[in-house]
Amino acid sequence: MQYILLPLVCLFVGSIYGQQDGWTVRNYPDPITMPGLCGRVNPSFICDPSRILEEAAADQIDEIAKNIYNETTVPCYASGPRASRRKGYMVMVAVMPKMQRYRTVNATVYNMRTRYREAQYFAYHLGQQKKWGAHSSSCNETVIILYSAEDGVLYTSTQSQARRLLTDGIVREKVIWALTLYNPINRNNRVLAHTLEYLVRQYGLALRADIAA
Ligand SMILES: *[C@@H]1O[C@H](CO)[C@@H](O)[C@H](O)[C@H]1NC(C)=O
Ligand SMILES: *[C@@H]1O[C@H](CO)[C@@H](O)[C@H](O)[C@H]1NC(C)=O
Ligand SMILES: *[C@@H]1O[C@H](CO)[C@@H](O)[C@H](O)[C@H]1NC(C)=O
Repeated sequence: MQYILLPLVCLFVGSIYGQQDGWTVRNYPDPITMPGLCGRVNPSFICDPSRILEEAAADQIDEIAKNIYNETTVPCYASGPRASRRKGYMVMVAVMPKMQRYRTVNATVYNMRTRYREAQYFAYHLGQQKKWGAHSSSCNETVIILYSAEDGVLYTSTQSQARRLLTDGIVREKVIWALTLYNPINRNNRVLAHTLEYLVRQYGLALRADIAA
């Protein structure tokens, strides 16, 4: 398993962001190579094509994620010939109004479990080499936080190397905390921003564990 399931929030409201059909992994843009399509000005670790978050909030999350990248070293870059090209853990955030059903297109009901399967598939594939994983150092060090507003899904996908530090247990604990502190169910965009910021910060603490040790 390259990912973990966190069934948490579900809410159905009509589309308020347009993009009727929702995003697919294939067409969801890359915030590093195509920041403009991600609602960002500069290459970024967060993609928010419909600008659900305020720019300042997205900037803040982006900065925290970039600092994690700058201040950590993934093991396959820690020594040996790659050491001079040190790279850190990548925590990236995908925000979207809606996912297009793909993995679960044949499921008769689109309940919470189904949505999470869809999010799991989406986040997993977003982390692969053909997509955002292209920016990683192929150490399986990418973490993707996916939030889909209409699907009511907040999902964290951790690749194997990252999961050694950011364990499924830590993710679960932090998400539960985040939702206690900042219940995103009301879809207040500021609250959502706080939730995402909190998660990125907390994941950063876990990924820095070997530095502190
Ligand atoms: C990361 O480190 C590089 C090189 O030291 C620096 O140029 C860059 O501004 C840093 N980025 C952040 C977000 O701190
Ligand atoms: C959905 O059902 C169609 C027709 O049976 C099939 O061709 C397709 O592969 C299925 N899609 C998925 C994702 O299971
Ligand atoms: C990353 O994961 C893939 C698939 O699980 C595996 O084949 C590969 O060896 C891993 N790479 C590293 C550097 O651990």
